[in-house]
Amino acid sequence: MILVIIIVCIISTIISSSSSSEITNSTNLPQAIIIGVKKCGTRALLKFLSIHPAIAASSTEIHFFDSPKNFQLGLDWYRNQMPIVKNNQYLTIEKTPHYFIDRQTPARIFHLLPEVKLILILRDPIIRAISDYVQIKSRHEFYPTFDEFISMKNFTRWTPIKIGCYVIYLRRWLKYFPLERIHFVDGENLIQRPWQELEYVQQFLNISNHIQQEHFYFNSNKRGFPCVKQPNGCLGTSKGRQHPLISEKTREILKNLYSTCNQQFKQLAQINFSWL
Ligand code: A3P
Repeated sequence: MILVIIIVCIISTIISSSSSSEITNSTNLPQAIIIGVKKCGTRALLKFLSIHPAIAASSTEIHFFDSPKNFQLGLDWYRNQMPIVKNNQYLTIEKTPHYFIDRQTPARIFHLLPEVKLILILRDPIIRAISDYVQIKSRHEFYPTFDEFISMKNFTRWTPIKIGCYVIYLRRWLKYFPLERIHFVDGENLIQRPWQELEYVQQFLNISNHIQQEHFYFNSNKRGFPCVKQPNGCLGTSKGRQHPLISEKTREILKNLYSTCNQQFKQLAQINFSWL
């Protein structure tokens, strides 16, 4: 009799452990995607969102919709790239900033994930351009200064400058998604008051307002950027880099260049961030 009880216990333990490992190994397609914009704080936003107990956030950029090689691997491949869902996590999020400017991505997301929520973080396009420049320069030993780039004849065709005219790309997304499906995050405010931007995102995602001011501190060793009060709570060294000073002339040129783009973006997106 005792032997029978022991065998029953062992079998039920095996069954329960195999079914629980099935649960812990499962991944879901994302219900929300941070689609961009590159150098506007996409990593910080995803890191901060991952504090929420309901959220499973991908640690890498998946590049499914914008890469022909990945896209042909299919939706099951995409699902397998997602983070494993733990405990009470029911909302999977990935971020790939290149999606915003990729021509094919809006239609592809619309056809494969028609219900997905889209999050777009933006910042002052002049600061974004400098940030992009600093990242590219970090990979080159000899590189012209930012001012030198802006004095070149075709500087408006230079990608770090082109991306900042956000309205061009937004128009493409609005051919497939209604405005209500896109949430705009102010990347400048995410640096000053991250909890405020997170409150709006949590509302948009329809999840509890879990992420609060007490989750953050401002780190003077990290140039004053906000970090999360947890081990490895700051972003890595490739985020929050020192920016070069730019001349007043360069600033004026870029201000003029972006003023129409910003105005049109503001109207189309129906938002009013201070820097717009
Ligand atoms: P810099 O490194 O040029 O300052 P992304 O993650 O989209 O590539 O954006 C990177 C930018 O996010 C950084 O650009 C930085 O300005 C900004 N950022 C916003 N919040 C941050 C944070 N808490 N820590 C570090 N960088 C942050």
